[in-house]
Amino acid sequence: MIDLHSHILPALDDGARDIVAAVDIARAAAADGVRAIAATPHVRDDFPTTPDEMRAALADLRRAVADEGLAIDVLPGGEIALPEAGALDEAALRAFGLAGNPDVLLVETPYYGWPLAFGDVIARLRRFGITPVLAHPERNGDVQDDPSRLEPFVAGGMLVQVTAASLEGRLGRRALACAQRLLELRLVHLVASDAHAPEVRAAGLSGARRRIGGAVGGWLMEEVPHAIVEQRRIPERPPARRARGLFERRRGR
Ligand SMILES: [Fe+2]
Repeated sequence: MIDLHSHILPALDDGARDIVAAVDIARAAAADGVRAIAATPHVRDDFPTTPDEMRAALADLRRAVADEGLAIDVLPGGEIALPEAGALDEAALRAFGLAGNPDVLLVETPYYGWPLAFGDVIARLRRFGITPVLAHPERNGDVQDDPSRLEPFVAGGMLVQVTAASLEGRLGRRALACAQRLLELRLVHLVASDAHAPEVRAAGLSGARRRIGGAVGGWLMEEVPHAIVEQRRIPERPPARRARGLFERRRGR
């Protein structure tokens, strides 16, 4: 599997505290079956990470992971808050390209409210030819109230990432229900860990992979992220029948 959202870089944000914790996240992810993980430090007012800081921390971590002999690749990236996505110049945005793909940007969903500027910021990125990946919208109350509000943005080229822990119910019932509904609506393109700490449950993509199962699980955690890493087109989604599997199984309990 390929995990395109993590706070593995040490001492840049609220993720890994130091290089030991960072290597521990890499070790836990590798043990969980993840072969590549994107480092996506916050880029926002409280954690104003610069591209140079991200690159320097990434180089240190890649060396440490290699020294440990871990079978996992650590890739560049950033999780850009909406105001920064609306303000940084195009070159800076591309420097945070997801998994090193300068045409794809991970954009943080606010936890509260739905900003009036959301559509303008997404449209700005699309004008640059950048594909926004919206990070964990299932945790936002307004999306929980109306998951279909993402539909026009997805129709316009935006991708959506759901967090593995949401699908396991670890981030609350509303996040779980919203994640399920987004899957039903075919509005999810990636499942990622958003790991901040080395605990296995914080990495844990394999649990979500088992839960979703079938071709859709592989599409969400292998095929789509692999295409982003390799700067290819997003592959076709498997048939809808399987996309509803998660919801049907849970309702059947
Ligand atoms: Fe994150």
